[in-house]
Amino acid sequence: MEEKIMKKMTKAAVLVMAAAMMTAVPVSAEDTLTFGTNPEFPPFEYVTAEGVIDTYDGIDMAIAKKIAEDNGMTAAVENMEFDSLLVALQNGQVDAVIAGMTVTDERKEAVDFSTPYYTATQVMIVKEDSDIAKAEDMADKKICVIQGYTGQVCVDEMGYEYESFKKGTEAVMELVNGKCDVVVIDSATAQQYVSDNEGLKIVEDADAFGAEEYAIAVQKGNTELLDKINASIEKMLEDGTISELAAEYAEVEAE
Ligand code: ARG
Repeated sequence: MEEKIMKKMTKAAVLVMAAAMMTAVPVSAEDTLTFGTNPEFPPFEYVTAEGVIDTYDGIDMAIAKKIAEDNGMTAAVENMEFDSLLVALQNGQVDAVIAGMTVTDERKEAVDFSTPYYTATQVMIVKEDSDIAKAEDMADKKICVIQGYTGQVCVDEMGYEYESFKKGTEAVMELVNGKCDVVVIDSATAQQYVSDNEGLKIVEDADAFGAEEYAIAVQKGNTELLDKINASIEKMLEDGTISELAAEYAEVEAE
């Protein structure tokens, strides 16, 4: 009887030791989960002195890190232009893309998307004294969008002319300098720019701009990775981790 308990205990001890050793062993490339992103999209991803993954920080970066850890891996980030992300994914240069990326039918043709983890919408950033109150008021105004973002697609579908920029900050600078009248961009990022720059406000138009869902993209057919990512996301949605992160980063950034 006693012997049996002893045996059980040693077995448990060995398991504990093995687990401890496993975490102590440095990770190899196989244990790295590489995420492609475009860190020009606060509060989801931006470059900072010391981020959660190297110099990258934001809601998405924290989520990426947790997904990797959840699966016994280490998260790495590849910084690229937004337009290049899905091509890099298709080429196998990155394992997944996390970039506040909205699920669209067009993108779904190229890649597979995870369970959505965040709901957003397009909004209009204007000067405080602007008379733009609805999307249709943009008709005779100078509109700025960011290249390849869903905001560009929306304005395009409305049939308005626009100028496109590589980065959100560039478009916002045009607005601040009076060179354009309105920037169409995702809600949380707009919030960020409005608190970073004086004299701007946000105008919403729920009739014109629908809800968008952010999800992580993987190569078409990579169900093995997708299942892992989905399991982690679902857990983080359920236990409140994602809403906590969203609140936390919105606050840090608004300071
Ligand atoms: N949600 C928008 C889209 O999917 C904008 C995303 C921009 N993300 C970024 N990391 N720059 O097109």
